[in-house]
Amino acid sequence: MIYSRIVGTGSVLPGAPVTNDDLVARGVDTSDDWIIERTGIHARHIAPPGVTSSQLGVEAAQKALSAAGVDAGSIDLIIVATSTPDQIFPSTASLIQEKLGVAGCAVFDLQAVCSGFVYALTVADKFIRSGSHKRALVIGAEIFSHILDWNDRRTCVLFGDGAGAVVVEASPEPGVLASAIHADGRHHKILEVPGNVRNGRIEGSPFIHMDGQAVFKFAVRALSEVALEVLHAAGLDKEQLDWLVPHQANIRILQATARRLDLPIEKVIATLAHQGNTSAASVPLALDAAVRDGRIRSGQHVMLQGVGGGFTWGAVLLRI
Ligand code: UT7
Repeated sequence: MIYSRIVGTGSVLPGAPVTNDDLVARGVDTSDDWIIERTGIHARHIAPPGVTSSQLGVEAAQKALSAAGVDAGSIDLIIVATSTPDQIFPSTASLIQEKLGVAGCAVFDLQAVCSGFVYALTVADKFIRSGSHKRALVIGAEIFSHILDWNDRRTCVLFGDGAGAVVVEASPEPGVLASAIHADGRHHKILEVPGNVRNGRIEGSPFIHMDGQAVFKFAVRALSEVALEVLHAAGLDKEQLDWLVPHQANIRILQATARRLDLPIEKVIATLAHQGNTSAASVPLALDAAVRDGRIRSGQHVMLQGVGGGFTWGAVLLRI
C-alpha cells in the first residue's frame, strides 16, 4: 500500500510587520483595540511593491525542500494554492517551477481561496496514493494586499501576505490518515472578489467583499463538522488529536471551533496575531511555525483545516 507523508515544511513572510497602529497612521478608520478585540490580530506583513506570489512561494518551497533534505529536481508534481496569482496565466506553479530551475514535472494552480492549501494537499495525497507521482511540492502563496480596499475597514485590517510549503512523498507508512474537502457554491457571494479583466478593462470590483458575520458562522460550523468527519474516517477519537492547525482567520473563530469540539484551546495552533489572515498560505505558515518551534513532533496526530470563499472547506488528518 502506498501512502503520502509530509517530510519538510517551509514558510516566508515578506517585509516588516505592519501593526494595527501603523494602519491607523496610514489613514484606516480603525483602532488597535477594535482589531485585537474582534479578531486577535496585532500585525500582518504586507509585501513591498513588485513582490509576487511566485517569489514568496519559491522561497517557502526552497525552505521546505531544504528541511526535507531533497533537491527540486526530484519533485514530480507542484500544486500552488493561490487566489492572488502573478498573472492570469500561466499558472503561478509554472513560474515557481522555472524559479526552482526544474522542468518536466506536472504543475498547476488550485483555486479554493482560504481552503486552497487543504484542497491542494488532498489532491497531492491522491496523486501519490495512486502511484502516478512520488514527491510533490504543495504551496500556498498569497499577496492578498493586492486585492484589499484600504478604504474598507471591515476587510483591510484582516488580511496579510505570505507563503508556506510542504514536501509530500510516497511512504509505506501513512502520513495523511484521512481527508475531506467540501463546497457549497450557493454561498459564493458572502466572500468574493467579483471583478475580472474583460476587453482590456477591469469589470466589477477588484477588491474583497465580505459579509463578515455570515462568514464567521459558516466557518465555525464547517470547521467543527469537518473535523469530526475526518476523525471518524481515520477511526480516531478527538482525544487522540495532538494539534489542530486551522485556517487563521480570526481568534474568535478558532476559540468557537475548539469549544464546539470540546478541545482545549492549548491544542490549537494560532499564528494570526502577527500574520493576519494570509488565505491559502495561512495553514502551511502555521504548520511550519509549530514544526520549527518544536510543538509538532514525530508521531503526533495533527489536523489541518481550511475554510473560505466558494464557500469551501476541508480538513486533512496527519500522523507526523
Ligand atoms: O478567510 C475567511 C475570511 N473572513 C473571515 O474570517 C471573517 C469572519 N468574520 C469576522 O472575523 C468578523 O465578522 C469581523 C472581524 C469581520 C467583524 O467583527 P464583528 O464582530 O462581526 O463586527 P461587525 O461586522 O458586527 O461590526 C461591528 C461594528 C460596526 O459598527 P456599527 O455598525 O455597530 O456602528 C462596524 O462598522 O464595528 C465596526 N467596524 C469596525 N470598527 C473599527 C467594522 N470594522 C471595523 C474596524 N475598525 N476595522
